[in-house]
Amino acid sequence: MSSFDLPKLPASIPQNDRLSKVRAATVLARNLGHKYGPSLIGQASFYPNGTMGILRVQGDMALWSKDREEIDKRVGADVVAIQGAIMKNGGLKSMEDYGRVLYEGQWKNSNPLGTTGGIMTNYTQDLLFSMERLSLNPYPLRRVKSADKLPFQVPSGITEKLTGVSLKDLQSSGNLFIVDHIEQKRYEKTTVAPQRYGAACTAYFYIHPKTKDFLPLAIKTNVGADLIYTPMDSPKDWLLAKMMFNVNDFFHAQMLHLTISHDVSEGVHLAALKKLAPNHPVMLILERLMIQGYSSRTVGEQLCFNPGGHWDQLFLVNNVGCRQFVTEKWPVEGGYQFGYLETDLRNRGLIDNKGQSPFKSFPFFKDASIIRKAQFDFFSEFVNSYYPSEDVIAGDYELQSWFVEVTNGAKVFDFPQCGTSGRPCSRAVLTEVLTHFGFIVSAVHHALNGGDPIGSKATLPFHLNAMFAPVPTTKNVTDLLPFLPPAANAVHYIGFLATFNRPFYPSSNRTLKDAFNDSSLMSNLNKQTNTAATKFMASMEKLSSEIKSRKFDSNGLSLGMPFIYRTLDPAYIPFFSAV
Ligand SMILES: [Fe+2]
Repeated sequence: MSSFDLPKLPASIPQNDRLSKVRAATVLARNLGHKYGPSLIGQASFYPNGTMGILRVQGDMALWSKDREEIDKRVGADVVAIQGAIMKNGGLKSMEDYGRVLYEGQWKNSNPLGTTGGIMTNYTQDLLFSMERLSLNPYPLRRVKSADKLPFQVPSGITEKLTGVSLKDLQSSGNLFIVDHIEQKRYEKTTVAPQRYGAACTAYFYIHPKTKDFLPLAIKTNVGADLIYTPMDSPKDWLLAKMMFNVNDFFHAQMLHLTISHDVSEGVHLAALKKLAPNHPVMLILERLMIQGYSSRTVGEQLCFNPGGHWDQLFLVNNVGCRQFVTEKWPVEGGYQFGYLETDLRNRGLIDNKGQSPFKSFPFFKDASIIRKAQFDFFSEFVNSYYPSEDVIAGDYELQSWFVEVTNGAKVFDFPQCGTSGRPCSRAVLTEVLTHFGFIVSAVHHALNGGDPIGSKATLPFHLNAMFAPVPTTKNVTDLLPFLPPAANAVHYIGFLATFNRPFYPSSNRTLKDAFNDSSLMSNLNKQTNTAATKFMASMEKLSSEIKSRKFDSNGLSLGMPFIYRTLDPAYIPFFSAV
């Protein structure tokens, strides 16, 4: 069954289904037909196997291929145009050329939105770099606890000069934050030409005790001479340090997105394919949210993480290193409830028990929590409409067995431990589970991947894919140009990022606001769910309008940042993990 081939039967829970015998036979056949096959791209969740599982993957690949054909056509046209522009310019001769020649008036077909305001012009600002941690990639950031052992000391006197207090004071007052990418030192590096280099940076950030601005304090490379850079270094040295950090940070963003959106959702959904009838209301919703969901890992194996493929050609850590990351992170970061938005942010010290953040502005949390709340509201209505009491949900033997299956069969970590007759899953638990499912395939996926990188978090020259000259062993660098990708590699890189963009989704009702805007789906669901779907859409349209209206204020800031945060626009991002 392909994702779009939804059953025509109205949704019903098993105990109300008049065709209970046919239904039981269908569930049994689906259980036998969907098997747990080996994980792809590292050891994470199982990948579909068995007669039905294989058909499922083929169907998802067929759907994905249509989009791929469309975006490839667009990228192809854009690459021709940009090659002409580079030739006309006589190559890329300065750092400024990377921002201008590679972007201005380019990528019109594959990224008609262009780059986001400020990201190309303000990248030397420290505030841009630090606020990216609270918007474009909030996942590796955490607050340093007062009892934590610090991984390094900032050279003497610098913290005091920048912040007015000592590093110890910053730490004990809860104003010190860290992003630690030192693990990337261990991951296998590419050997494909051109030779690439890079660090495995650890960075400190802080909330300024007086201004409350969130700013960078220091970056340690952890390789070679293991230099520690700070804003007190020369502007070129400090900029280079931030660019070295960006190489590591983008790797983290991309590999984590695979782990916490694709791998998690596939594991949970595969268990549902085995335990829920196709007309189970929960199955109908999961099918909608998993459109072409199983294409991504096959595509990844075939086109991205294949030995010598795009990844090895463009980045520093190679395809083997990518797999190492996924295998290591899956048992922890892949945990289901651990990933719930507020739980995750609270565990990392980015919000408190009341859901308040210590930052002047936390753009990712601002938009993500609105999306999550709308999803929660929708699923509350949905769950309560199909399960008017706890007894009814306890009596849904398909649903309860799915919960058990997610842990015992699909081996997804940290899924709610319920589903037995002694401990049935409640409506509240199901609501949270579905909310998180909807959230990871939309907000989480597109916070990190999809259309954002080409327009924001992966724009050259600041956001390097890899370094093309060795990590310096001394300071006082005079020229950053040698560290940047050669023109052909830069075009390949941007073109590669463009293939993840889906600019034609807003005109085909495939954005987040349209998650439940599908007449064939909604005609099979009850009235309350239809009403909730209308509310969901209105709420997402409201957020989209707000995001689209963002501008710089008189201080040149938007949400406290020198660039515009548009990443989670519900009228742009897909409601499913499209690629
Ligand atoms: Fe993805």
